[in-house]
Amino acid sequence: TGLQRPAGDPIVVDDPGRLTFRVDRRAYTDDDLAAQEMTRIFDRCWLYVGHESEVPGPGCYVARDVGGRPVVMARGSDGVIRVFANSCTHRGALICSQPAGQARSFRCPYHDWTFSNQGELVGVPIPDGYGPGFRKADFGLARHRSDSYRGFVFVTFDPQQPRTLTEYLAGATEYLDLIDDQSEAGMEVIRGAQLHGARANWKLMMENSVDIYHFRALHKRYVGYMESLGSVPPRRRGGFGRALGLGHAANELPPAAARPLAHWTPMFGAEFRPRIEATAARFAERFGAERAERITRTNRALLIFPNLMIIDAIAITIRKIDPAGAGRMAITSVALAPKDEDPDIRELRKSHYLTFLGPAGFATPDDIEIVESCQRGCLNRTVRYSDLSRGMNKEVPETTDELPAREFWRQWDRLMQGDGGRFEVPHRAAGTPAGIPAGTPGAEAR
Ligand code: FES
Ligand code: FE
Repeated sequence: TGLQRPAGDPIVVDDPGRLTFRVDRRAYTDDDLAAQEMTRIFDRCWLYVGHESEVPGPGCYVARDVGGRPVVMARGSDGVIRVFANSCTHRGALICSQPAGQARSFRCPYHDWTFSNQGELVGVPIPDGYGPGFRKADFGLARHRSDSYRGFVFVTFDPQQPRTLTEYLAGATEYLDLIDDQSEAGMEVIRGAQLHGARANWKLMMENSVDIYHFRALHKRYVGYMESLGSVPPRRRGGFGRALGLGHAANELPPAAARPLAHWTPMFGAEFRPRIEATAARFAERFGAERAERITRTNRALLIFPNLMIIDAIAITIRKIDPAGAGRMAITSVALAPKDEDPDIRELRKSHYLTFLGPAGFATPDDIEIVESCQRGCLNRTVRYSDLSRGMNKEVPETTDELPAREFWRQWDRLMQGDGGRFEVPHRAAGTPAGIPAGTPGAEAR
């Protein structure tokens, strides 16, 4: 069955002829649409679960909600990472109520059924109550299809999902490479997550997380502070937005003074300079000057459809944004860092992460407040559409354009309308502006 709306009454109004792009605000407020998103998007896509470094050794596990479902990502005693339904096969209780830990087995608290960390049912108390038709082998934990790319673990609840994870990630793999290549020793999630939320639709936060248009306007206090210290505003730094296919998108721009280098960077401080230079030289040798420059010096915000953001700026934030009905969302934030980072730089990174991107930082409270404001504003149904057409008139959109949001919405629309989501390779821009690596797809795929 199609969406319950008349033909000619689309949610996403994409008009390339007039270079306009509008989204009907019911997409943020309508409960029926929110329910359909769960089945048409979250039950079908590949969804981010966590990072392999969060389960470093045999028996390590994390329990979290993904796409509205409680799951456990566990590394078995055999070293294999699996994702299970966090639901006892007896009568449904969560078999794991701790957010993280290490265990040889999971014991359900209700009747003590016990499952190995590889998912088999290994123990049932008082077994004499079952007949010959009851076989433990039939009651192992339900295992979800999962896979990882460069350490990022995803799951899909759709047995018919036709794409491998790598196919699904499309052009986003290039950016995951740039993020993971920041350390020869590998990247790791810093222990501890920040769990927060907002009284707003989840898509408002996805748009916000990749929107640089708002930066100077909304974060005036931070911008004023940084500029007083010599930082250059994003627009004057250049850079570009890119559609990466299948709803994924990125912004890429040269760093502010706040972050001269990605992973070994102090916000300020000449005492770090020799180490920065040494690392930069090592990377140039390994990757060549151009790629090393891009890995180490560029800021990027990566949107992976539907609900993952990786903001690689003054620290690397992994932000998972989950719907909780039309008007609420849950946000999980963790920081990613090189495993071999020097302790003093790690401290600096954590401070950047907490003081800028954290829920009590310089920027995120502004963003939470404004998406809640949008949600309230959208409840006045007289104004029907939001506009996301900025930059459609350009061959290569700037970072302050709304290309990433349009890429997100086009995929949202395809999936909500029941089309598996055509994948068109974003075509290459005619002119390649300075600072953009050759082969960069700049313009929009429709
Ligand atoms: Fe888990 Fe009964 S519900 S043992
Ligand atoms: Fe912001």
